[in-house]
Amino acid sequence: MANLVLVGCQWGDEGKGRVTDLLAERAQVVVRFQGGPNAGHTLIVDDQEFVLHLVPSGILYPDTLCVIGNGVVVDPALLITELDQLDALGHDTGPRRLKISDRATAIMPYHRLLDGKGERERGAGRIGTTGRGIGPSYEDKVARRAVRMGDLLHPARLRSRLEACLPDLRRRLGTDGVGVDLMELMRLGRAWGERLQEHIVDTSAVIHERMVHGDSVLFEGAQGTMLDIDHGTYPFVTSSNTVAGNACVGSGVGPTDIDAVLGVVKAYATRVGEGPFPTEEFDEVAQKLRKAGGEFGSTTGRPRRCGWFDAVIARRSAALNGLTGLVLTKLDVLSGLDEICVGTGYRVFDEPVLRFPCCVDELARCEPHYDTVPGWHEDISDVREFDDLPEAAQSYVNRLEQLVGVPIRMISVGPRREQIIHRSDPFTGRGIA
Ligand code: GDP
Ligand code: IMO
Ligand code: MG
Repeated sequence: MANLVLVGCQWGDEGKGRVTDLLAERAQVVVRFQGGPNAGHTLIVDDQEFVLHLVPSGILYPDTLCVIGNGVVVDPALLITELDQLDALGHDTGPRRLKISDRATAIMPYHRLLDGKGERERGAGRIGTTGRGIGPSYEDKVARRAVRMGDLLHPARLRSRLEACLPDLRRRLGTDGVGVDLMELMRLGRAWGERLQEHIVDTSAVIHERMVHGDSVLFEGAQGTMLDIDHGTYPFVTSSNTVAGNACVGSGVGPTDIDAVLGVVKAYATRVGEGPFPTEEFDEVAQKLRKAGGEFGSTTGRPRRCGWFDAVIARRSAALNGLTGLVLTKLDVLSGLDEICVGTGYRVFDEPVLRFPCCVDELARCEPHYDTVPGWHEDISDVREFDDLPEAAQSYVNRLEQLVGVPIRMISVGPRREQIIHRSDPFTGRGIA
């Protein structure tokens, strides 16, 4: 069976949760491999909305195994709340359904304090983080002083880890760190360990066993390619690699285990937080997209910045992720516009930009070049066949496909499971007809 990586191709919130939920019907295992509770993945099933921050979006299928891989930063308190909420709604989240890597990094309460302090100190240069301690927890991981989920099961190990990092932590936190207390952290860590004990295992081994058994694995990316720590709009990025290559590192599988890579793109563009956004709109268009698309952050509730589809970024995402297919989401949101713009290239002082800028100052100077195409006014949320879309909507999709150079295999016309147009099999990989 095929193993598929799914990633966001813009600045996050492309609808990855919604698409993962749909594809999970055909996978036996769904794995989160990076990021943490900065993610907010929305699933709507039978009129019920779920916003998942840490639990993989396969959890609504009773037989799917969900895995939080080693590359994820896990806030145990938030995870326990999320599990309790799902349990209360009748979804089994027991150890048979959810495995957590013993090597995943734990987000500790002090990471949130550090995140807040860092943002305050950056002042006008702030990143606009989700405030969930993501950056500081990845910093600790790379500095080799993190508490890992497996440490929560061994009080002596947990204690020595905390004792080793506390002096430096107090120095970094200054007056913000007065409440940080070893005994309180030990108490929390042990309680989390007891609650999550049966879930915490070597998940790489579990994934391998399932692959050998012939199961399909779906790797669910969080954030988006333009938020990648290496390839995104640095420093206005998140602290992990969001690109498909990291699915291997963040879950403990090899590149040869991956058969297909699916990119999720919104039919327009949004960004939440600071940083350059070349095709951003500010007036009626932005308001119309924000309102029609419900563009408010799933994690922080912040209004999302909105603008036109940027084919430069989508093409770059296709290359960075080795995409074998695209899923276009939120096409329905564009209904009602007389004309739609598509960013096809950038210019600086009228000179075409041939290479994607490395530096955000340079990207901020880029003026997008737009193609203007006719819009449509029909409500398309009940359309299920491509040929039944208004002609202008079909042309728009075909134009995006041509500009990005990757087949658009599915088109989402609403947030519900059934609001999807299938064009070709998303599990189809490179070189597989
Ligand atoms: P994710 O972070 O990539 O999983 O995306 P979010 O869940 O943060 O944001 C996507 C939002 O758009 C959610 O509110 C979804 O319910 C909604 N959504 C997803 N696909 C569609 C679609 O095709 N049409 C509309 N109108 N809404 C959608
Ligand atoms: P999903 O998975 C959109 C953004 C934040 C901020 C930057 C750094 O739902 O698509 P962080 O808290 O990660 O240090 O913040 O990244 N960001 C997201 N934007 N969707 C997300 O996740 C995001 N996760 C982080 O707004 O600009
Ligand atoms: Mg989101």
